[in-house]
Amino acid sequence: MFTKPRRWEGEHFDTQSVHAGEPKEKPFGSLTMPIVQTSTYHFENTAALVEHMQRKVDGLEPLRGEYGRYGNPTQEVVEQKMAALEGAESALVMASGMAAITCTLLTLLSSGDHFILTVDCYRKTRQFSLEVMSKLGVSCSLVPLGDYTALEAAITPRTKLIFSETPTNPYLRVADLPRLVDLARRHGLLTVVDATFGTPYNIRPLDYGVDLVIHSATKYLGGHNDLLAGVVVGSAEQIKQIREVHNMMGAVASPHTLYLLLRGLKTLALRMARHNENGLRVAQFLERHPAVRRVWYPGLPSHPDYEVATRQMKGFGGVVSFELATDLEGTARFIDALRIPYMGPSLGGVESIVEQPALMSHFTLDEKEREELGIRGELVRYALGVEDPEDLIADLAQALDQVPRKASVYPEETTQHTQHS
Ligand SMILES: Cc1ncc(COP(=O)(O)O)c(C=O)c1O
Repeated sequence: MFTKPRRWEGEHFDTQSVHAGEPKEKPFGSLTMPIVQTSTYHFENTAALVEHMQRKVDGLEPLRGEYGRYGNPTQEVVEQKMAALEGAESALVMASGMAAITCTLLTLLSSGDHFILTVDCYRKTRQFSLEVMSKLGVSCSLVPLGDYTALEAAITPRTKLIFSETPTNPYLRVADLPRLVDLARRHGLLTVVDATFGTPYNIRPLDYGVDLVIHSATKYLGGHNDLLAGVVVGSAEQIKQIREVHNMMGAVASPHTLYLLLRGLKTLALRMARHNENGLRVAQFLERHPAVRRVWYPGLPSHPDYEVATRQMKGFGGVVSFELATDLEGTARFIDALRIPYMGPSLGGVESIVEQPALMSHFTLDEKEREELGIRGELVRYALGVEDPEDLIADLAQALDQVPRKASVYPEETTQHTQHS
């Protein structure tokens, strides 16, 4: 513990996102938490060193720093803020969302174990689960999100945990958390939820009994497209176990990154309110537009998880996925005609970002492999920033006017993505 948090952080999310986890008195009377740019910490004398080491032997929390890989004052403040925002006992911040995912899976699973991952998820999470965990003797089954019969059927005597995103990437599928937790508990399984697309502003999976929540803090939590970080939150005991592995793996976020993340978190509530507004208004606009074949947004009654999402979520975020009534080339023309968003692979920042998954995240797959994952050529993932919704809609309208209408090359009933919905 480097710092003592202030005593009253407010009852509301917005107040907590500004104040939670921060000591009121900071070094030099600074109002903001300073960046402590150090790789190591020194001890005043041998007695101080021995006291510190003895606390470690006794399994007590350290009262001060020892080495940068084990923690940093700015990291500790971010972790306390994240724990408060998620209603968690503890949090651990790392260098990226993938660091948080890989470190958590490596801590919780051992050779001979099996786990279940929902199909519609971040591609690197799926690749790590199938290609790297298998090398360590850990097997993984993929199950479509929303199919709870298939989920239960995939459980074996070796199954240890269920990993799901909510909402998922790119179809924004929303896990029915009470149902997921009930099923997992009946079989004695842990639940891990990647809630990057949700953020604690829109959904707090721990409130439903989920064991661990992971975020790519690179996205909404940082919020400005200028940092990479990851977070895992959960019980003090589980986070302690993951921290021990993390201390060896060493994927630490730099003090400067941690400062940017802390600063980003302070405006999370304000930004999310605008992301939610932009997401809903753009989704409604797209659904009415004749050049758009289909829209996925959990705030639309047409989304397969609309009912679950409205029950569980405060808002539905800034990502809208949609298919145009054209082909891959027509979709590329539409994207090139957009004037506001950047073309790129991320989401959750103040600047809007758009991507055509077939030509970006899934470029290395052939058409058949893409189709199996339900990624069509005319699919667009639009991560709306915090720009004015009227401007975003006007920009979309002019770009849609330039789309040449063509029939889909995909027969509706044979693609995986129609099975998803
Ligand atoms: C849902 C989800 N989880 C995890 C990650 C990985 O996060 P990072 O890029 O911070 O490693 C991403 C990245 O796009 C993501 O979309």
